[in-house]
Amino acid sequence: MKRIGLMGCGMVAQYGHIPAIQAVPGLILHAVFDPNEDNLRRTQEKFGIPHGFTDEEAFFKCGLDGVSITSPAPCHHANVLHAAAHGLPVLCEKPLATNRTEAEEMIAAMKTASASLYSGFCYRFSPCALKIRELVRDGAIGKVRSLRLIYNWSLHGKFTTDAAGNRIIQKRREDRMLEGGPMVDCGTHQIDLAGFWLGSPVRSFNAHGAWVDDYEAPDHMWVHLDHENGAHTVVEISYSYHHTAKNNRSEFTYELIGTGGVIRYNRETERFTMETGDGLQEFPFAPEKNFEGMYEEWARALESGASALLTTGEEGQRVVEIARQATDGVIASRHG
Ligand SMILES: NC(=O)c1ccc[n+]([C@@H]2O[C@H](COP(=O)([O-])OP(=O)(O)OC[C@H]3O[C@@H](n4cnc5c(N)ncnc54)[C@H](O)[C@@H]3O)[C@@H](O)[C@H]2O)c1
Repeated sequence: MKRIGLMGCGMVAQYGHIPAIQAVPGLILHAVFDPNEDNLRRTQEKFGIPHGFTDEEAFFKCGLDGVSITSPAPCHHANVLHAAAHGLPVLCEKPLATNRTEAEEMIAAMKTASASLYSGFCYRFSPCALKIRELVRDGAIGKVRSLRLIYNWSLHGKFTTDAAGNRIIQKRREDRMLEGGPMVDCGTHQIDLAGFWLGSPVRSFNAHGAWVDDYEAPDHMWVHLDHENGAHTVVEISYSYHHTAKNNRSEFTYELIGTGGVIRYNRETERFTMETGDGLQEFPFAPEKNFEGMYEEWARALESGASALLTTGEEGQRVVEIARQATDGVIASRHG
């Protein structure tokens, strides 16, 4: 049994990581750390976690076998360096870091410590994402030449209401926009998936952006990825789609276009299909995230010392580099 410590008792830890760690045989959630005492104690009590710390050093010394990092992205660098100083393997939420330099330092520190570092991309473990990988590998739609990965939503909207009923800015969306916007946040999932499915790294990329809102970062972005094998991916992502509307709406689709057919996944209509010369084939639908699947694989990796499915630190670094450089380039070339 591996004793896991989790850093950052926020939203994604509550609905994703903690229930998944507690459900996976071979892992036990031994301790949590959060600098915010309220978040820490509420989480500890809600999930019955034996140890809770606001002191980071005490957390690292409580007898852990691995660390899951679910703090905000700007904290990942310091959290990983601290885990490396204690020689502990890490699974770190996306994005691995806020820029390439940070990611390089994290990878180097973990290498020096001889401890594994994985970038936690839970979309890879959706049964649909794994099925797409298998179909691509089997040549079910011939040679895949083009991927269209679209996620347009509002990140829960620009506004919310406070306890007194006043309309206020919704902090979660504001924080993600200040950290770099949609491509460096959620768009990293799609950039990661493209490489995972094609098994082919990105050779070059360029990007475009639009400003519906008024942050420095574009709130609507497109990145074009040219892969080593000649395939092309376009990722479109927005945090301003219906962001001021009364009713939220999202678009979440994957399309893979090959020489012998097309694979389609549509989260909103809950349909996952493949269309080839043989006709239309329907596959079971599953949501785009699978935290439990990711932790099952991490548990195997902690035992065996390797994983063919988790995103390596180096792959995570390349994703960060693409998303950050694409966003910075779009900001630098903004007109009007
Ligand atoms: N995989 C997904 O689908 C998914 C979804 C949402 C968020 N995320 C990622 O998860 C991470 C956390 O996002 P969130 O929405 O849960 O954030 P959040 O703001 O809800 O929670 C973050 C928590 O971390 C704590 N924290 C602050 N500084 C810390 C530090 N130095 N060390 C440890 N903890 C610290 C905060 O007190 C808070 O409790 C981000 O990297 C985000 O991009 C991933």
